[in-house]
Amino acid sequence: MENHLSPSILAADFGNLSQNLQAAEEGGARYFHFDIMDGSFVPNISFGMPVIHSLRKNSKAFFDVHMMVDDPDRYVQAVADAGADGITVHQEACTHLDRTLNHIHECGLKAGVALNPATPISTLSCVLPLVDLVLIMSVNPGFGGQKLIPYTLDKIRALRDYRENAKLHFSIGIDGGATTENVQEIIDCGANFIIAGSAVFRPNDQIAANVKAFRKIMGENPEGENKS
Ligand code: DX5
Ligand code: ZN
Repeated sequence: MENHLSPSILAADFGNLSQNLQAAEEGGARYFHFDIMDGSFVPNISFGMPVIHSLRKNSKAFFDVHMMVDDPDRYVQAVADAGADGITVHQEACTHLDRTLNHIHECGLKAGVALNPATPISTLSCVLPLVDLVLIMSVNPGFGGQKLIPYTLDKIRALRDYRENAKLHFSIGIDGGATTENVQEIIDCGANFIIAGSAVFRPNDQIAANVKAFRKIMGENPEGENKS
């Protein structure tokens, strides 16, 4: 399975968002991760559809939207209309997870499901055949710049083994605390979709170089397609 880096714009300079994304694309970024937070599912508020819509005009990258909101089904169509290519919802936030994943697909988008650190992967066994991505949260969601919680790597290993036995094809993502120091270990555990915020956008004048450093370790195809 091909490795991909998805820089999380939460750590970018919001006064220069478009330029920050451009710098990441110059470094080779082909994906961007958008953290939508509602102040209820997580104890923080970030941004919403207008930001996705504005950035969409200047980028052909894959827009991967992480919904840290209660009952995200309410916003699937609006996020799709804003320009998302994929939507990831939390298992913990969906009363009807099967319906929501199907709804995302019906909008023509890739569908992902995220798990908080304390939620076991067994909670997804029924829906794994439906998903394009399982996103293992390696921090408690709500804030960038936290340290990776080591036991979440065990969940990635277990999920990779499960996927192999079940002959399924979803990507395995990790979100939170990824750096150029630990990304090799993360990949070795079985993740192929790496979200990184602070380690890409800070310091703010090193964005392209940071992306290149990640991509070099990850062996991401430099000529890779914009969308997969
Ligand atoms: C955490 C968010 C992450 C965050 C990652 O709630 O879902 O996507 O932006 O940021 P870093 O890489 O700084 O931990
Ligand atoms: Zn995220």
